[in-house]
Amino acid sequence: MQEETLAAMPAALSPSPAEPVLRVDALTLAFGGVKALNGVGFDVQPGSITAVIGPNGAGKTSLFNTISGFYRPTAGSVQFEGADITRVAAPKRAAMGLARSFQNIALFRGMTVLDNIKLGRHAHLRTNVFDALFYLGRARREEAELRRDVEERIIDFLEIDHIRHASVAALPYGLQKRVEMARALAMQPKVLMLDEPVAGMNREETEDMARFILDVRREWGITVLMVEHDMAMVMDLSDHVVVLNFGQVIAQGTPQQVQADPEVVRAYLGAGDVGALRAKLRGTAVPA
Ligand SMILES: Nc1ncnc2c1ncn2[C@@H]1O[C@H](COP(=O)(O)OP(=O)(O)OP(=O)(O)O)[C@@H](O)[C@H]1O
Ligand SMILES: [Mg+2]
Repeated sequence: MQEETLAAMPAALSPSPAEPVLRVDALTLAFGGVKALNGVGFDVQPGSITAVIGPNGAGKTSLFNTISGFYRPTAGSVQFEGADITRVAAPKRAAMGLARSFQNIALFRGMTVLDNIKLGRHAHLRTNVFDALFYLGRARREEAELRRDVEERIIDFLEIDHIRHASVAALPYGLQKRVEMARALAMQPKVLMLDEPVAGMNREETEDMARFILDVRREWGITVLMVEHDMAMVMDLSDHVVVLNFGQVIAQGTPQQVQADPEVVRAYLGAGDVGALRAKLRGTAVPA
């Protein structure tokens, strides 16, 4: 039924599957003499899980900071849903639907889990006086109910009901990472950016987080862009992998394609012998 309707639509109205939700184009970022990013470009397809990998200092966090608007690039552009957002301020980008977590957890440690999640919603709060007046009364009440509904869905989804009133500082690291993801989800993003979501986690916590990332895409339809060092997780979860080295994209493609790329192997070679390295890139156990 739905297929018939789509087929009957004029070509210009049918959605184009090739339209990226996020496009990074020729991005350059310099800190003094250091070029943290040097002509970085790639597309993120809607509904994909895209990973950015690369050795320490490759420019991954700088890239995230530039995409989310904390750093202003020296050259190049960031496009979100077809619009150039290179000059848009960070909070506005968040409100447009680009939410992120941080490599070093950035939660309000003295506050409860629930209050931290509520803060995520502030990305959507209206600041315009006329809008605010308009939203007084019934509409505002409805919004408050909707917000509570979203918060409850997130708490339920991430299985953090039992800690909702706990202070963040008292939680183990793995749960703090989960709360940070909850806060990002509370922004109701279109693209969720995760900087090292499983860094410092044990195996069980890592598996939980991998499951949540897959479910974020499947149940909520959110596109995921992540930076991650855990190769097993990257290769398992990602549709598309972008490899950075010294601020440049040295390879990109499916997990299989980047694992087979000699440039990628070379970039990681500091880490040991080639056999161990290939196993690491494949995310499998190192052969004995
Ligand atoms: N605020 C800053 N001021 C000056 N130099 C910076 C700054 N942030 C990053 N750099 C430099 O830019 C380069 C890229 O750093 P970045 O943190 O983006 O790497 P990364 O790929 O995230 O590394 P890691 O895997 O260790 O997190 C490095 O040479 C780093 O020293
Ligand atoms: Mg980093």
